[in-house]
Amino acid sequence: MTERERGGFYLTTPIYYVNDVPHIGHAYTTIACDALSRWHRMRGDVTRFLTGVDEHGQKIQQAAEQRGMTPIELCDEVVVNFRNLWDVLGISSDDFIRTTEERHIKVVQHFFRTLTDRGDIYKGSYEGWYCVPCETYVPEGQMGAGSVCPDCRRPLVRMSEESYFFRLSNYQDALIRHYEEHPDAIMPRARYNEVMSFIRSGLQDLSVSRTTLKWGIPVPGDERHVVYVWLDALVNYISALNYPTPGEMWEVHWPNVRHMVGKDIIRFHAVIWPAILMAMGVNPPVRIFAHGWWTVEGDKMSKSKGNVVDPFEMTSVYGADAFRYFVMREVPFGNDGDFSELGMVQRINSDLANDLGNLLNRTLQMIEKYRDGRLPEVAPCEGSNDADHALRKLAERTLLDMDRDMENFALDSALKTLWSLIGAGNKYIDETQPWKLGREGSGERLDAVLRNLWEILRLIAFLVYPYMPGTAGRIWTQLGLPGGLPEAGIMDWRWGGADPGIVVKKADVLFPRIDVAKWREEKSARDAAKTAASAPGDSAPAEKFDQVEMDDFKKLEIRVARVDSVEVVKNADKLYKLHLDLGFENRVIVSGIREFYRPEDLIGRKILVLCNLKPAKFRGIESRGMLLAAEATASGCETISLAVVDDDFPVGALVR
Ligand code: ME8
Ligand code: MG
Repeated sequence: MTERERGGFYLTTPIYYVNDVPHIGHAYTTIACDALSRWHRMRGDVTRFLTGVDEHGQKIQQAAEQRGMTPIELCDEVVVNFRNLWDVLGISSDDFIRTTEERHIKVVQHFFRTLTDRGDIYKGSYEGWYCVPCETYVPEGQMGAGSVCPDCRRPLVRMSEESYFFRLSNYQDALIRHYEEHPDAIMPRARYNEVMSFIRSGLQDLSVSRTTLKWGIPVPGDERHVVYVWLDALVNYISALNYPTPGEMWEVHWPNVRHMVGKDIIRFHAVIWPAILMAMGVNPPVRIFAHGWWTVEGDKMSKSKGNVVDPFEMTSVYGADAFRYFVMREVPFGNDGDFSELGMVQRINSDLANDLGNLLNRTLQMIEKYRDGRLPEVAPCEGSNDADHALRKLAERTLLDMDRDMENFALDSALKTLWSLIGAGNKYIDETQPWKLGREGSGERLDAVLRNLWEILRLIAFLVYPYMPGTAGRIWTQLGLPGGLPEAGIMDWRWGGADPGIVVKKADVLFPRIDVAKWREEKSARDAAKTAASAPGDSAPAEKFDQVEMDDFKKLEIRVARVDSVEVVKNADKLYKLHLDLGFENRVIVSGIREFYRPEDLIGRKILVLCNLKPAKFRGIESRGMLLAAEATASGCETISLAVVDDDFPVGALVR
């Protein structure tokens, strides 16, 4: 079906450090690799997908010390979080490697010994500025003001040690030549350019051992040293293939190796690693793809801000498939992106409940209503009807376009392509109006229309599968297709390729619509529970805020208002509708303070209101502003206190 030949596909995620719990960033990389691997398995390619964890190095040693554990105890504990997350996210990796495993350690030592024998590793001494969190020396020229790391901005430490060095400088020309000949070996293009100019600016030999660290793989023959954690880590990609055992896995998969990484670690993968491989006489990676960086609601993720997105939480609230879909669809793959939970809710409603869910539901409903659930046994799109013909052409083209997008790791674009087909399906229903055909007695035409719709849904089940494997299976079953969705079926997809006697089985909707007002309430309860859990004492930890300019504050129109009357909002047990007097005008705001204040506690009070907040609707009521209140957790319960002013103070007064 596709022009591209069936080939081999070996894809890796970075191996994640185990000093921390997995967050949305780790989930993102791994979901992307999962979708690509599933696509390739569907094509029938010889596919292998590797993930794992990075367990050595200073970071892990320090984290263990802080928790009063040995490093391996820490690793054994934290690795479980990663394994569990991949389970709940439906990650189909073929292997999971830990760098503390014997199968890995012996290959790292083999690399070290071989490179030493070949003269590519030599002994010298090293003095320089070292960044502990990044596990890397920083050349003086790249240091930030005040001796901080140019990447993570944390203070560097001065280190001096006897060290083994890898002759990276010898590989500068070979790397340039390699990348000139293989312009697709680093993607996207901007990263290719960045790496090329870095290599052209000159490469220095790389320190590849440490004497200051205990938690690592011993250098063979000189056990005062351990192997530099990045050399150790990078080797995982090939040690997991049992390199250099001949005739086995690595000879099959290594020639097809592709690395997926975040843009933070592109240089390790696109400069150091290929040079080491060249020195070993092994082919460098076919491709290194660096994706972008997630921020959260416009902010950098950080523990101190408490805004780290927990993929376990997202999965338990929205389901693995919706979360997977959202992160793949929201951001052009390769660009940075911003995570907003409301954005996810909106996409679930529009793309999943509306577009995809409705197409399936409407189609099955009509097959049940007009044909007793039996799929009409007519050859689809055989007639000369233009709309039918266009639908079929679009379906066939969608498969090819998605295949091309997947080849380029354009994961978001593949989804857009797919959603055009879904949109076309819904439009086809609107235009052919099957309910009229039923009434008019155009039996043959109705058969054809229903059959065509069913036909594109069968294709959609396949195409959705890499992103939302569970959903794909549910579509498959509801379409009345036997067995499970065959993983290697995409190349065998043919328009009209269904056995006779199919009876559809309509079941629960794929994605129930989320009521946004209810969702807001549920979310604030969830957030309050989190705050309570993270603050065992009576006061919550101080949140950290960025500094703002006076001009930022001046944009807020905060005024004194008097509460004139209070109404209860029906079907929303947390909401009040407040009628306020601002002196120069009256307004209505909706506020979620019903649990905390009785109407009689509010009426007549002078409160503070943010007046120039964009209006928003709650339960159909437009709220024009927001009252100000302090929020705290006391003995595990959320409480609030309204910001009030003296009773005799004039309404309308501005807060400055
Ligand atoms: O660097 N947005 O491990 P690590 C997008 N052990 N992706 C993100 C992200 C974010 N905000 N945060 C993390 C290491 N990632 C080394 C790798 S490989 C031989 C050794 C993802 O735990 C992204 O893939 O710091 C990034 O490259 C990776 O997590 C870093 O994981
Ligand atoms: Mg990191």
